[in-house]
Amino acid sequence: MSGRFLSVPARRLGGVSEGLLDRAEWVRVEATVGLDQSAQSTQGQYFTPMRAAELIAALPTLPKTRCLRVLDPGAGSGMLTAAIVDRVCGGQQIERVEVTAVELDSSLLPALRATAELCEEHGRRAGVRVRVNIAHGDVITLQTGMETELGDGFDLAIMNPPYKKLAAASWQRRSLEAIGWDVGNLYAAFVALGVDSLRPGGQLVAITPRSFANGPYFEQFRKRLLRQVAFDQIHTFESRSTVFADTGVLQENIVFSATKGGEHGLVTITSSRDHTGETNERRVPYDELVAPGDPHQFIRITTDDADDDAVRAVASLPASLAELDVKVSTGRVVDFRTRGNLQQIPKPDSAPLIYPGNLRGGEVLWPRSIGKPQGFRLLDPTDHKALMPSGYYVLVKRFSAKEERRRIVAAVWDPIQHDGKPVAFENHLNVFHFGGSGLDRELAWGLCAWLNSSVVDRYFRTFSGHTQVNATDLRSMNYPCEDTLRRLGSQLDDLPDQERLDALVGSMALEPVTA
Ligand SMILES: C[S@@+](CC[C@H](N)C(=O)[O-])C[C@H]1O[C@@H](n2cnc3c(N)ncnc32)[C@H](O)[C@@H]1O
Repeated sequence: MSGRFLSVPARRLGGVSEGLLDRAEWVRVEATVGLDQSAQSTQGQYFTPMRAAELIAALPTLPKTRCLRVLDPGAGSGMLTAAIVDRVCGGQQIERVEVTAVELDSSLLPALRATAELCEEHGRRAGVRVRVNIAHGDVITLQTGMETELGDGFDLAIMNPPYKKLAAASWQRRSLEAIGWDVGNLYAAFVALGVDSLRPGGQLVAITPRSFANGPYFEQFRKRLLRQVAFDQIHTFESRSTVFADTGVLQENIVFSATKGGEHGLVTITSSRDHTGETNERRVPYDELVAPGDPHQFIRITTDDADDDAVRAVASLPASLAELDVKVSTGRVVDFRTRGNLQQIPKPDSAPLIYPGNLRGGEVLWPRSIGKPQGFRLLDPTDHKALMPSGYYVLVKRFSAKEERRRIVAAVWDPIQHDGKPVAFENHLNVFHFGGSGLDRELAWGLCAWLNSSVVDRYFRTFSGHTQVNATDLRSMNYPCEDTLRRLGSQLDDLPDQERLDALVGSMALEPVTA
């Protein structure tokens, strides 16, 4: 065994399996301590803790084959390899395991070799021939044919890929495009290559951010993924921070298993508070995971009956935003491009400039001391384009703060309170309007109440795992009909507390819909 990993405790704490994972965990912790901080973030070196690795390795259905071929791309210290070897050795039918563990960072190879040796030794004791081949290199160049290919005959690809946004012009994105995948993030590139590496019927098991489940950024990737694989199981964590607690990652992650060319059957959705706790389990028809008619192919993860009720309630609503004739766009002012127009303290001749920080309790408080300019002055006739005419607008934050209880935070811009002036909305806001001009008061308050309700929040969380609220997400939802929204809005001139708001929305907007 190599270098500082020589001293991996040889003790066996219980059965054969405890021995391997405990020792692999020790290697992982040592490897984490030795990481170069800047490489850790640039190469996404957040290794999977033992319990999470066990949970991930428990997901695939082990095939009835004598030899299991496994790909572990971005293997790090080899924790996932150890977890799958451990599982196979605890079973009966598989006689041989051949793992290809790919790692880019040469400084991690001693740790990876140490885990590989532990796996092979463990296999010998359990009567399973285990071989871990270490491929030092970049999984993208290896799998896109730029170097010797790893092949496409794997039974299983198991991964905790690195996360990094990929620019459109990056070589990684272009290489993936050349083989038919549009990947905006390194993790999506790994998943794509994982899928391509599998034989038909092979399985992919991954822990990734949930962000690919919705939104335009991942749409092409999601659509191709859904054409190539069928999801078998998805596991969500209620607490976003705990899985990688010792690594500093704050991401909402999911673990999923999917079969290449698999049938669309029931999907098992499991959830636990974190990777150590008890698991809730339910099974949903595939159509509930991905609605067949959904043009954006959102992946909806309903973890309990209340989620299901919210999805059914919203799905049964009669109107789309297009039918309401309402548009959603992002605010027109990109502040760093129009610095000259911005005023910290608004002057009488400037237009109000509204940032997300101006939204509070369903209203827009302006001017407000939020450390952002509050006025937009016109320097040039073309600056008018940045403004919207006086009117009622519903504003939704594009990025909700982590501490906010709801994902969708909506408020009404009321022109009466602001002398009927044109107004400038900053780009971190989604703006609901009628073709560039204001809504009527009732519709604005009705939409605001609806968007702030708990049923919408719950519905939204079934397909969005991040704090971002895209205009596409808002367009993709069903809404109550215009009359209902107006009746709801006519009851309000501010936002009641959540309980009263939900009761009002429940009694008015969620009435059974008749044709
Ligand atoms: C999130 S870590 C996961 C490591 C390990 N699979 C685990 O679960 O503990 C991702 C790993 O991928 C490696 N990596 C990053 N980019 C890579 C690339 N292009 N090719 C191969 N490995 C890469 C990193 O060095 C890191 O070890």
